[in-house]
Amino acid sequence: MKRILSQRQIRRTVRSIAEAVRKDYGDKRPVLIGVLKGSFIFLADLAREINIPLEVDFVKASSYGAAQTSSGEVRLLQDKTTDLTDRHVLLVEDIADTGLTLERLRRHILSQSPASVRVCALLVREGMEPGVVDYAGRVVAPGFVVGYGIDSAEDYRYLPDIWILDGEQAWQIDNV
Ligand code: IMP
Ligand code: MG
Repeated sequence: MKRILSQRQIRRTVRSIAEAVRKDYGDKRPVLIGVLKGSFIFLADLAREINIPLEVDFVKASSYGAAQTSSGEVRLLQDKTTDLTDRHVLLVEDIADTGLTLERLRRHILSQSPASVRVCALLVREGMEPGVVDYAGRVVAPGFVVGYGIDSAEDYRYLPDIWILDGEQAWQIDNV
């Protein structure tokens, strides 16, 4: 495995997303909706860094199963319970790869009459079309990412740093 982001780099990335969110939301009391399971550590850090009044909820989505490529079909396995009518919603995702999961979830949230919906992702795959992610942390080149909540077939979520699994060619990461 190759380490692409240290705990310190992750912290800096989370902090810069949090600052942008804090500036944009002020006293709007946003609802952060984490996409389970991958976002659970990121959301925990992000919520504390944002440090304005906010609420937290979760949805569970799956497109990967135990595979390392998207099935192209996004299933909503568990829904949030918060009433989102007239609320400002921020979807929180670990990594946007094809962007399909976030697009589907955005549509799902939009159908519940929120005041606004924006999307935040710690990592965004290189070449992602603009408009899918409103707050992006870092851009990653191809290669399967694990650690800091992100899994491969349920393994590696506990790692404090972010890694690319062995056997992958491209593992560089760019600053945004
Ligand atoms: P998308 O729908 O193709 O954007 O895929 C997004 C979902 O797939 C995310 O919620 C991730 O959990 C998962 N995913 C995408 N790329 C990776 C990866 O490199 N490692 C682990 N999970 C990934
Ligand atoms: Mg996920």
